[in-house]
Formats: sequence, C-alpha cells, structure tokens
Amino acid sequence: MRIAGNKISDIKKYFYQELEQQYSQGEILILFRMAVQHINGLSHLDIHFEPDLRVQESDVLQYSWFVKRLVQGEPVQYIMGYTWFMDLKIKVTPAVLIPRPETEELANLIIMELQGIENPVILDACSGSGCISLALKAYCSNAKVIGVELSDEALEVSRQNAASLSLDVDFQKSDVLQLEKWAEPLDVLVSNPPYISNLERDSLSVQVRDFEPAMALFVDDPDVLLFYRKLSKIGLNSVISGGLIALECHFENTEKVAEILTNDGWKNVLIENDLSGNPRIVYGRK
Ligand SMILES: C[S@@+](CC[C@H](N)C(=O)[O-])C[C@H]1O[C@@H](n2cnc3c(N)ncnc32)[C@H](O)[C@@H]1O
Repeated sequence: MRIAGNKISDIKKYFYQELEQQYSQGEILILFRMAVQHINGLSHLDIHFEPDLRVQESDVLQYSWFVKRLVQGEPVQYIMGYTWFMDLKIKVTPAVLIPRPETEELANLIIMELQGIENPVILDACSGSGCISLALKAYCSNAKVIGVELSDEALEVSRQNAASLSLDVDFQKSDVLQLEKWAEPLDVLVSNPPYISNLERDSLSVQVRDFEPAMALFVDDPDVLLFYRKLSKIGLNSVISGGLIALECHFENTEKVAEILTNDGWKNVLIENDLSGNPRIVYGRK
C-alpha cells in the first residue's frame, strides 16, 4: 500500500493501516508524532490543528521508508538515530543499547547520593552510548567521569555523544571481566551490565532480539550474574570507604545481586524499584 496523498492526515492514515498488526493504537499515535517531529519538525499540536497541511513529495518518501522499517521491527530510536535520556539528546546506532527510562532512575539515584561530595570520581562500567556517564557529568559538572566499554563501535558513539553535548567524559576501552581494580580511588562505581541469559533469547521482542547488540544484552556464560560478581570485586578494590556501588539488574535477579554485594562485605545494601514497580537497582556502601 502507498501513502494516498501528501497531507498530514494521509500520512497518519497510512501509519494506522500499516502498523495495526504490530502496535496498539496508542503506540501508533506516538510513533506517528515522533516521525512528524523528526521529518518535518512539527509538534503534535501543529498536526492536530492543521491536518490538511501538505508536505513535500520527498518527505512522503521518508515517511514511507520510516513505516517500512517499523514494520520490519526496527526500533524507532534507531530509525531516527537518537533518543532522549535525562533531557540529553543521545545518538544511538545499532552498536549501542537504546537507553531505557529505568536507567534514568539509576542515574537519578546517583545524583541524589552525590550531593555534598565536592569532586567525585565516577566509573561507569559497560558505558554503551555513554548515557549514564554523560547524564552524571551534566548534572554534576565537578565530577570526574570515566566510562569503560569493550565494543569499539559503542565507544565511538559515546565519544561522539560527549563531543556533541560538550561534556568532558573520558571513554576508554576496557574489558570489565578482566579488570581487578581501577587506577584511582572511586567515589562511585555504576554499571548497567549485560544481564540476560542466552536461554531467554527467544522470549525477547523482535525489536530487542533482532536489532539491539547481542553483546549489550546477553551474558555469554552459564553464570548470568558473572558481571555483578566481577563488579562487586572491582568496587571493593577501588571504591573509597563510604563510597557507592549502584547496579541496574534484571528485576528477577535483584535479590541475588543484593546477596552477592552483602556477602562480599558491602554495607547498607538496598534494592530500589523502577517506575513500573519492579525491583531494578541494587546499591550499597563500602
Ligand atoms: C546493557 S548495555 C548498557 C549500556 C549503557 N550503559 C546503558 O545503560 O544504556 C551493556 C554494555 O556493556 C558492554 N559490554 C559487554 N561486555 C563487556 C565487557 N566485558 N567489558 C566492558 N563492556 C562490555 C556492551 O557492549 C554494552 O554497551
């Protein structure tokens, strides 16, 4: 099916026709609004008050291509090439995980915990797009923030994000599973590491399984908590007394991660729920 004309209302109709098998009506409306904002810079109020507004033929082609990619299951953030994370525009490519709202809560928690600390040193392990590191630097300008990541492609994206946001974060290549200790004392160790078992691959949505990088999602080991065991040890060797470790987890594993931290000697270990009410973040003090 083709788009019937070049009015905004024709394009809206096309979105509903083509996407109704895969998305709810509410989701289609959001995707349509995102597309119109992205391609024509129009807000949803513009669309609402001027449904007969006409767009250029070249734009019609862009809408058609946008919908085709959505039908194939591609996440809208990869189609647009960016997403928003704590008011920061973050470039995303298929080399990086799309930053999630739950992760904003992790960054928020750290910002709250950092209050009163003058020049904190923060290590973000498994930094991906750089979203956590960049948000921490944006909200705590006096912090020294280092992001470490194994994927060269992801590192490149995070460095581009730092440059476009003019935020001074040091993104370095490093294999977290080979790290014992960070080179300087840390006030905070934060991480959102890979935490999905390979066995769960088939239960994931097409958008996640077929488009987001496997390296960001799956733990290539029978021990799905491998990263947490390692991060706890790195933290014990690197975080200063009273300093913070804060880890994002699969909601089914928070108790187990809290147990790992407690058994390793971390104090005041707590679990924080995400906005959907699922346990999500585990944090503690050295
Ligand atoms: C769940 S993603 C999180 C990305 C980003 N911090 C976020 O919250 O959106 C995990 C990241 O860890 C990286 N990674 C996987 N194995 C790693 C390793 N051994 N050492 C360092 N980074 C690793 C992946 O490439 C991916 O970017």
